[in-house]
Amino acid sequence: MEKVLHKGFKYDTVPEKYVFPPEERQKKLASNKSIPVIDLANAKAYIGLGHDEIVKQILEAGKEFGVFQIVNHGVNNEVMSKMLEVMEEFFNMPLEKRVIHYSEDLCKPVRLFTSTGAHDIVPLWRDCLRMAIYPVENFKQYWPEKPSNLKETVERYAVEMKGLTEKIFGLITEGLGLEYDYLNGGLSGQPMISHVNYYPPCPDPSLTFGLAKHCDPGLVTLLLQGDVSGLQILCNGEWQAVDPVPNAIIVIYGHQMEFVTNGQLKSVEHRAITNDMQSRISIATFIQPAMDCLVAPAKKLLDENNPPLYKSFLFGDYFANYVANLGDKLKLTEHFQNTTP
Ligand code: OGA
Ligand code: NI
Repeated sequence: MEKVLHKGFKYDTVPEKYVFPPEERQKKLASNKSIPVIDLANAKAYIGLGHDEIVKQILEAGKEFGVFQIVNHGVNNEVMSKMLEVMEEFFNMPLEKRVIHYSEDLCKPVRLFTSTGAHDIVPLWRDCLRMAIYPVENFKQYWPEKPSNLKETVERYAVEMKGLTEKIFGLITEGLGLEYDYLNGGLSGQPMISHVNYYPPCPDPSLTFGLAKHCDPGLVTLLLQGDVSGLQILCNGEWQAVDPVPNAIIVIYGHQMEFVTNGQLKSVEHRAITNDMQSRISIATFIQPAMDCLVAPAKKLLDENNPPLYKSFLFGDYFANYVANLGDKLKLTEHFQNTTP
């Protein structure tokens, strides 16, 4: 497999192997129902003015879209912009300085790969720096040494993402009527992983994809997309764009959230398209259960009118299926749904 897509020059044409068959290419977008932008300014750990409304919006967004953006989320804006900046610097380094991180070993805490890192039929127009980021002290030693301020920036970012996860989980569990820390512990017990996605400018975006349709495997994904558009979600069978909002963070509900909430919160299918004008960086941070964690619909959400829609399973089993089925939500749902009446 080719090590990376971005070699330091701009492509004039799309190499043949990146071209998707006509029937799989993107079609016209749906006219937008706008995806909620939720202002967390008044979200407190206690019930206060505006707080109940925020909790309601977060649940509504999960029922209707499976995704929302947050502003005034408390994450330091400077840390966010520094993170995007340093990652841009990383991908702008000469090829030989980047490829030292290339690996096909899935267990490595830091690795650079292209496309999905597997042997795709049609490769994606994307390189990715994957890093385990939290707990910081377990992984800092593996993070790239260059650019020189990368480690300190990733450390600050990781701590911010951890704090934000707790805040969001608190709001979700409150809205669902679960114990405050229900989603902590095993359900979010895997080290936090970030994917720094780099989509180089593509001479003909109609032929390629940055990421193909998938659902995210964990509980939530916290996504930073800078100011270049590219994320699209599937909503009622139609694709629609999630356009950048300054300093916002996108929260994508992952498949485990759908299982745990017995289908109340939906995991949204999404993809990334390419553009011909500029490169795009997005940073996705995944909050996932430990591999040996038992995932099941929360008992408090079940009664005779709400039987469990899904089986109980080990997250490790789900994850193996996720990889084998390339994040295909329909196939995964069929596999884990409850067939006993
Ligand atoms: C992902 C993802 C979307 C984007 O990394 O899982 O969906 O906009 N990224 O890059
Ligand atoms: Ni995703």
